[in-house]
Amino acid sequence: MRARILGTGSYVPERVLTNADLERMVATSDAWIMERTGIRERRLAAQGEACSNLAVQAAERALAAAGVAAAELDLILLATCTGDYPVPSTACLVQHRLGAVRAAACDIGAACCGFLYGLGVGDAYVRTGTRYVLVIGAEVMSAVTDWTDRNTCVLFGDGAGAAVLGPSEGDRGILSSHLHSDGGLWDLIAVPGGGSRMPPSEKMVAERQQYIKMKGNETFKVAVKTLEDGVREALAANNLTVDDLDLLVPHQANLRIIKAVASRLGLPLEKVMLNLEWYGNTSAASIPLALDEAVKAGRITEGSLVLMEAFGAGLTWASTVVRW
Ligand code: UT7
Repeated sequence: MRARILGTGSYVPERVLTNADLERMVATSDAWIMERTGIRERRLAAQGEACSNLAVQAAERALAAAGVAAAELDLILLATCTGDYPVPSTACLVQHRLGAVRAAACDIGAACCGFLYGLGVGDAYVRTGTRYVLVIGAEVMSAVTDWTDRNTCVLFGDGAGAAVLGPSEGDRGILSSHLHSDGGLWDLIAVPGGGSRMPPSEKMVAERQQYIKMKGNETFKVAVKTLEDGVREALAANNLTVDDLDLLVPHQANLRIIKAVASRLGLPLEKVMLNLEWYGNTSAASIPLALDEAVKAGRITEGSLVLMEAFGAGLTWASTVVRW
């Protein structure tokens, strides 16, 4: 028994922030952002629109696509690093608003890898008898973005994606999950302030420590190597080769990272799902957003072999192989 993705859904806020808008905010240019990242625009949550609002929209669409009622859910796993509150979990807010009266609910903190961590945990539950698991990746990255820091503010966006897992009949479903971490590199990407290490204070705010900091260039190098290794590990575990893949759905952080990994693998770009041009890096929402778009576009159909791979703060990295 393994878990199958029964349905997917996604949601992005309406407001668009273009590179031209960013040119008016920091010393940057559309040309620099396009060349270094491949991002053209990103979505921003409206005032009063928090992580749970995005998550509920994506979840409702995924439940409808799966044909599963919220009241049938056994477990809700919400991957995010930008939840509504430090306490309680955003998953509980979503559980209530969906009317998922039977479901246990908790958040998963694995940054950009959160959705794949969620699929791994959800799959393990389904394999041991749990019926329906809702996995959501939802982020309001704009809440932790320093809009005066050109090194990071051009990269991130807001959004949400979700998938409903249920028991699979036959060969279809999640073939394997490969989840990794290396906390030795925690400071490559971090929000230093606001937690127990540096509780909120006037000094913290004055020093802008509540915002995300990233050592971009170092992260870039580790990302390419780690993502290539992750794909090879996932394929080898299933006795598959790169040629067997129908679609790679990578974390949408940077087009240059994605291209470098595809080139090292010898995978043509036609077999890679790309949408970062329109959404930027939406952290835990990135893969489920891209996955849902690929499904809706008919790029994933029954029997497709799909590999998802991510890399992010922690460090964490992860890959998941699915026979659709
Ligand atoms: O989702 C989690 C995983 N995250 C990632 O995978 C992100 C990985 N890193 C990256 O995507 C890239 O490193 C960045 C896009 C963040 C930066 O690209 P880069 O080619 O590594 O640039 P850099 O950091 O080496 O900076 C090159 C130059 C610097 O100027 P100097 O020192 O050479 O004069 C930066 O100050 O570009 C400058 N720069 C900018 N210029 C215009 C940095 N940001 C900007 C900007 N506009 N927005």
